[in-house]
Amino acid sequence: MSLALTEDELPMDADAFTAQLIDSIDERIEAEGLNSSRFDHDLSEEEMLDGLYTRVYNELAVADAARRMTAQVDDPQIFVHLLKQLEDEAKHARMLSQRIHRLGGNPAEVFERADESARRFWGRFEGLDLIEGTAMLQATTERIAHQRHQHEADHYDEETAEIYRRVITPEEQFHSMIGVNILRTYCTDLEHQRVALRCANESMAIRGDELDSGVRNAYGNTE
Ligand SMILES: [Fe+2]
Ligand SMILES: [Fe+2]
Repeated sequence: MSLALTEDELPMDADAFTAQLIDSIDERIEAEGLNSSRFDHDLSEEEMLDGLYTRVYNELAVADAARRMTAQVDDPQIFVHLLKQLEDEAKHARMLSQRIHRLGGNPAEVFERADESARRFWGRFEGLDLIEGTAMLQATTERIAHQRHQHEADHYDEETAEIYRRVITPEEQFHSMIGVNILRTYCTDLEHQRVALRCANESMAIRGDELDSGVRNAYGNTE
């Protein structure tokens, strides 16, 4: 289902556009249950380990995306915020890799062992411009991730749950805010607003399909 905000209502001023887009996104997340997790049992160490490879892969892919975005902004505050995101995602990758190692796995195998749906999703990111990337990542995927992680941590072992509760989940909230700032700053005309709306709709559709097909976490990690 599409977002409530439609192209017919554009253009509007950048603040109003961003506020309405984000409201429409949050409304759909809620209505489609995208914020819910399909985890219905506590994960065994083996299941946890298996899922962590995709999670590390995802953290590295977001770090790459944030790095590419730094080359496309001219706003000093947004530039610095994107660097903070890059630093956060690298730290998330490191902490989850250390967890893999403690669970007896080898984090260096992350590129071979990441789930196929995650590879497909991040393949779609190659070559996206700033607005397209923001609409698909910080404004949608990370808004959903932040909420799903909160539910999912209840089914993790204590050590992994602690990494999410103490570090990853609060920082994902900040990354969503970076997305809001980018949209407010750069979606000032019809062309950019159209692009943001189209990509936000695309991203939400991908998330909805994943949930329908049984994908269990916000960035793609099937059973
Ligand atoms: Fe992250
Ligand atoms: Fe993030």
